[in-house]
Amino acid sequence: MIKTRQQLIKAYLDFFKEKKHKVIPNAPLMPENDPTVLFTTAGMHPLVPYLLGEKHPLGKRLCNVQKCLRTTDVEKVGDKSHLTFFEMLGNWSLGDYWKKEAIEYSFEFLTEILKIPKEKLEITCFKGDKKNNIPKDEESANIWKSLGIKKEQIKFLGKEDNWWGPAGETGPCGPDTEMFFNGIEIWNDVFMQYNKKADGTYSELKQKNVDTGMGVERTLALLTGKDSVYETSLFLPIIKIIEKMSGKEYGKNKEETRSMRVVADHIKASCFILAEKIQPSNLEQGYVLRRLIRRAIRHAKLLGIKEKLTTKLAEEVIEIYPDYKELTKNKEFILEELEKEEEKFTKILKEGIKYFNKIKKHLKGKIIDGKTAFLLYQSYGFPLEMTQELAKENKLEVDVSGFEAEQEKHQKMSRTATKGKFKSGLADKSEETTKLHTATHLLLAALRQVLGKHVEQKGSNITAERLRLDFSHDKKLKEEEIKEIEKIVNKNIKAGLEVKREEMSLEQAKKSGALGTFEDRYGKKVSVYSISSPNKIISKEICAGPHVSNTSKLGEGEKKFKIIKEESVAEGIRRIRAVLD
Ligand code: ALA
Repeated sequence: MIKTRQQLIKAYLDFFKEKKHKVIPNAPLMPENDPTVLFTTAGMHPLVPYLLGEKHPLGKRLCNVQKCLRTTDVEKVGDKSHLTFFEMLGNWSLGDYWKKEAIEYSFEFLTEILKIPKEKLEITCFKGDKKNNIPKDEESANIWKSLGIKKEQIKFLGKEDNWWGPAGETGPCGPDTEMFFNGIEIWNDVFMQYNKKADGTYSELKQKNVDTGMGVERTLALLTGKDSVYETSLFLPIIKIIEKMSGKEYGKNKEETRSMRVVADHIKASCFILAEKIQPSNLEQGYVLRRLIRRAIRHAKLLGIKEKLTTKLAEEVIEIYPDYKELTKNKEFILEELEKEEEKFTKILKEGIKYFNKIKKHLKGKIIDGKTAFLLYQSYGFPLEMTQELAKENKLEVDVSGFEAEQEKHQKMSRTATKGKFKSGLADKSEETTKLHTATHLLLAALRQVLGKHVEQKGSNITAERLRLDFSHDKKLKEEEIKEIEKIVNKNIKAGLEVKREEMSLEQAKKSGALGTFEDRYGKKVSVYSISSPNKIISKEICAGPHVSNTSKLGEGEKKFKIIKEESVAEGIRRIRAVLD
């Protein structure tokens, strides 16, 4: 019987290995070279280029367990099943098997391996989308029926429920069929057959892909007969500490139980973000992290916790996940950052109280207006409940609807800002990022030519606007060196060199002289990209791609490669930012 997270993960991967799937690594939460999302939100995310048609070095059948972070449902966190951080089991067919095998595999795993009685399963299928000419998914429903699922167990739902993707505004997506147990979705088989385009219409993808996702926490709750994910071994030890610190009992009072869940979920998610060396800040991932930590502290205060709590909980989180080495390795960083943020926020809270008292003194009537309550919320991190509580003690009231109106206004603004960020789906910007990916290879080659062969890549990050490359070198680059490097890269762009991709074993790749920093990330077989002039190899790197097919693409629109910044990031490591301008 499967009773633990690790047993579940092993059973899943073993099952799909048996079905000729290769296990791919659990990718970082910080999407590499992908400007369309802040975090990895699903297992398919690192696979987008391959869903669009690029060949994956490990083949057409893949599976893994993937750490994911989603904040879109953050207000639902605290119910029985929603989480910001979770793990997802997934299997993929990249233009290989289709609906029949996908559903049969899911059914077999659920009923044979997890031993869920088939009568207990509830299934949903896509009811079709007339507007976009996408048919009702009778095919999936018939496959379910052929496996013994009764008609009454199958529901057809629309786009809101049974359509998945794209992750950004554009990209691979399709109808899905979802599996529920006790009203909670545990698995989703997505049939990625479409590409959503920037104009909102859909085109058929080059290949029909299957993308599935099964929630580890939810499935574990089901297998161990727990009512919610928070009562599994993945949360209970954290909840226990919160109970002890607050002197309150989990499950007794609805609001308190919810607060305990929020604290546990948010601190866990924060640990995993911090484990990737992101610090709390007011920008992008750092801002998400900050809000999670502060929201956790806010709920801890609602529970009446006075002592510091984030680091205590973090230590427990790290113990629950011994297989995530980044947690243990960066434990000190995680604890330090949490401690700093908790201190900072606790201080703002105090200042907020001072501000509140000042308002109170000058108040004409008995009502604290919505704008003021919102200012307390926004500038001092004051939750509305706290303002209300304080008001009550002072025989005052808060204009709640005024607060909500202000919040709405603000949310609309930030939603628009976020939307702007997500708007450019991978397909839109993939051209820019792909070019910069190839430019990074040319840059590394030029650096080695000008500075010497000691130069090795130490890190890379690409957005649609710029590339960033960290490399080993212990001196500041001279003006002439920068000029020379730019000149070489631009010459190679102008020369219109072919970018060739080959597949080989890691050993062959190393023997052939290919450079590579992410050695066995993709298991045994690797992709090697080389750029050659007629008489010499300019660049040869082990790399997952994607790349342009010819360097001349980088120069389209009269663009030139330009280094915009050169600096030190650590001892012996320099960082270059460059653009195609
Ligand atoms: N990508 C799909 C999901 O996240 C499987 O549900």
